[in-house]
Amino acid sequence: MTKITYITHEDKSYTVEVQNGLTVMEGAVQNDIPGIDADCGGGMACATCHVYVEEKWLDKIPKAEEAEVDMIDMAYEPKKNSRLSCQLIVSDELEGLTVTTPAQQS
Ligand code: FES
Repeated sequence: MTKITYITHEDKSYTVEVQNGLTVMEGAVQNDIPGIDADCGGGMACATCHVYVEEKWLDKIPKAEEAEVDMIDMAYEPKKNSRLSCQLIVSDELEGLTVTTPAQQS
């Protein structure tokens, strides 16, 4: 289990334990955390699991593949720290990861 913190655009913070091997998106859905819709269920086809990754984590998580980058372009207000949370696999290395959800999902 790994602690992940989700912060909404309204600055509400949720810290939960997520089972390793699940995605950051699945951790949010399983814990009823608002702000991540995940309409396609993790198939990288919707961009409604878009999150902003806290800057200090950007070097510690695997880089986004081209298909993810293309999909992020369709997300609501993408930034340079944007990721699709369905592509972030939870592991011990992500202990303490903090992501913020955008004001809306596209
Ligand atoms: S859940 Fe659809 S792209 Fe992540």
